[in-house]
Amino acid sequence: MAKPTVLVTRKLPEAVETRMMELFDARLNLDDVPMGRAELKAAIATVDALVPTVTDTIDADIISAAGPKLKIIANFGVGVNHIDLAAATAKGITVTNTPDVLTEDTADLAMALVLMAPRRLSEGERLVRDGKWTGWAPTQHLGYRINGKRLGIIGMGRIGVALARRARGFGVAVHYHNRQRIADALETELEATYWQSLDQMLAHMDILSINCPLTAETKHLLSEARLKRLPKHCFIINTSRGGIIDEAALAKALRNGDIAGAGLDVYEGEPKVNEELLKLDNVVLLPHLGSATLEGRIAMGEKVIVNLRTHADGHKPPDRVLPSDF
Ligand code: DGY
Repeated sequence: MAKPTVLVTRKLPEAVETRMMELFDARLNLDDVPMGRAELKAAIATVDALVPTVTDTIDADIISAAGPKLKIIANFGVGVNHIDLAAATAKGITVTNTPDVLTEDTADLAMALVLMAPRRLSEGERLVRDGKWTGWAPTQHLGYRINGKRLGIIGMGRIGVALARRARGFGVAVHYHNRQRIADALETELEATYWQSLDQMLAHMDILSINCPLTAETKHLLSEARLKRLPKHCFIINTSRGGIIDEAALAKALRNGDIAGAGLDVYEGEPKVNEELLKLDNVVLLPHLGSATLEGRIAMGEKVIVNLRTHADGHKPPDRVLPSDF
């Protein structure tokens, strides 16, 4: 039987690519140059499956170019905001993602930013590297203590919960806003305080972490008006998607001292970073590293393979994403 043809848009870890070559007629991107729209449209006209990443915009126009054989988009990543799910579903294309396997890595990175931003760790590193450090001083480079602070988590899904567990270990009080309240037992374990009203929670937090997916409802959830509700000493952490925060308004708030600082791993127009943010010292800027561990990326690849394989075998792939999921 002919192997399914699978278009992989970016270079994946060696172990994943090798297994894909064994199981599928895989079209790999060995140079890792992101595909342009025209190239992508031409390529998906003839394949059975597409494996995109967050760097590909799979909108309705791209999906309209899919050939009749294309029945599955197996995303390499958990976030699917770059895929038009409604257009895919309308065309009978199944969309899958890679949940669970990047939860711990992403929560580690969020916790790292929770520590880095208030303690001004990036600034400190820059000082040393730039040769400007003149030695220890009692009042030099003072940040804020982490222990005893209130962390407000927006989006208490897998990653939000994993971050909450870490934060508890650092003596941080967990607060959260979520569409649904989490189970009683989990709330008790985390000693978490639920806020039905996001606006009310914002006004009381020392640190705020974004852990919800980007959807039509969460686009600019942290609008200019909401940012104004935060106390001046508050820090914002974002490891989810840049579009959840109005980035221009965030830069303005950071510049004016309306909030104390931020730790960002994601941006509205990645890989472009708002010029204003680049000028500011009170923001830690990372290059979308949330799931960037070798183990995590191999596990994501394994999930993609399982989704493709079960689909090719005529079964429902385990990690199906439906338009109503997000
Ligand atoms: C994810 O899996 O959503 C990561 O942000 C990389 O896309």
